[in-house]
Amino acid sequence: MTYGVHDYGRMMADRTRMRAYFDAIREVVRPGHVVLDLGTGAGIHALYACKLGARHVYAVETNAAIELARELAIANGLADRITFIRAASTDVTLPEKADVIVSDLRGVLPLYGAHLESLADARARHLAPGGVLLPAADHLCASVVEAPEAFDRLMGPWLAGEGSLGRELSLDLSRGASIVAGGIYPDVPPLEPAHQLSPACRWASVTYGEPPTGLVSGVASGAFARGGTAHGLALWFDAEILARDGEPIGYSNAPGTELVYGRAFAPFPEPVRVAAGGVFKAHLFARRTEDDYLWGWTTEVTDASGATRTFRQSSAWQVEAWPHRQGTARSAARAEAAAVAARLLAADPDPARVVEALAVADPPLERDDARALVRAVGPWLFRGSGDSTP
Ligand SMILES: C[S@@+](CC[C@H](N)C(=O)[O-])C[C@H]1O[C@@H](n2cnc3c(N)ncnc32)[C@H](O)[C@@H]1O
Repeated sequence: MTYGVHDYGRMMADRTRMRAYFDAIREVVRPGHVVLDLGTGAGIHALYACKLGARHVYAVETNAAIELARELAIANGLADRITFIRAASTDVTLPEKADVIVSDLRGVLPLYGAHLESLADARARHLAPGGVLLPAADHLCASVVEAPEAFDRLMGPWLAGEGSLGRELSLDLSRGASIVAGGIYPDVPPLEPAHQLSPACRWASVTYGEPPTGLVSGVASGAFARGGTAHGLALWFDAEILARDGEPIGYSNAPGTELVYGRAFAPFPEPVRVAAGGVFKAHLFARRTEDDYLWGWTTEVTDASGATRTFRQSSAWQVEAWPHRQGTARSAARAEAAAVAARLLAADPDPARVVEALAVADPPLERDDARALVRAVGPWLFRGSGDSTP
């Protein structure tokens, strides 16, 4: 995503986020320190580090907003202490190592583009021994939510519900719903604590600076505190900007907070009535792909009758539906075949049946090719999610 200056203003207006970053920067930056502001945007952290006495700040940014940051440094008499570099941090070699590196490269969630790789590279190449990386870690959280408005906004147009276009025109639009259900979306309208049916559950953590494994996965589970209709999962993070004894300095974009990130909402394929005391268990994984992450999540929900409902969902369902995504894939044809296999596996993880389905698909795949594809896609889709690997 390419930000405009108004976006950087919105980020700066998020006082919870800014306060935590300023508290953490103040705690670690000492007079004489060298600081790297990675993804400086309009330069606010670089300027603040100078105010704290940093000897020199390297402000690195790919966006044209770095020119505004440069002007702000001049306007505030700090230009001689900040070197502005318009480039990706991964392409830059600094003349000296930094005592402190500060960044916020998250999207709605921390698993966003090259975030983890950039910070691993920054620690390895730009951080002095004993230096501090801000942020330190993020903890990924989830809960089951009753969110009729958010669900209807995303899924309503495709389902044959009361007042829907499909019902009015006697058309079956449900294929659209099955694609939308493979996505993770910004929460509109915002999710509130009252929407939550289950308590917050941390399902994975990322520690910045460590070489990423390419897979983040875990299990979120819990019991419903009240009955209602479950519409999907709320996803957010608890940020640890600075780890320290006692309370870390950080924040959370949990339901009910007003941070600039918002939250993510992953709708179930259909609403489920649940009762207090019923349980859910979601295996989630995010696998790094060429330009972003492939998500997969399998959720078991005890419905109000006591039966277990299982939803297997994956952003792989969306690969074939979105031409611009195919364009970025190494091979569009292979991505498309892989997406079909992934969708079939998500619906039925029995590899033999999926091979048969591919063999009679249009266009059909040779059985050997279908087996090879299922072998390739299965782990990609399910590894780390707690499911059996085909
Ligand atoms: C969310 S903004 C944060 C802006 C500002 N630091 C703040 O906290 O208000 C993240 C910025 O990092 C930049 N960015 C992301 N990865 C980068 C990299 N590897 N090197 C340089 N800039 C990067 C983006 O262009 C974006 O402007």
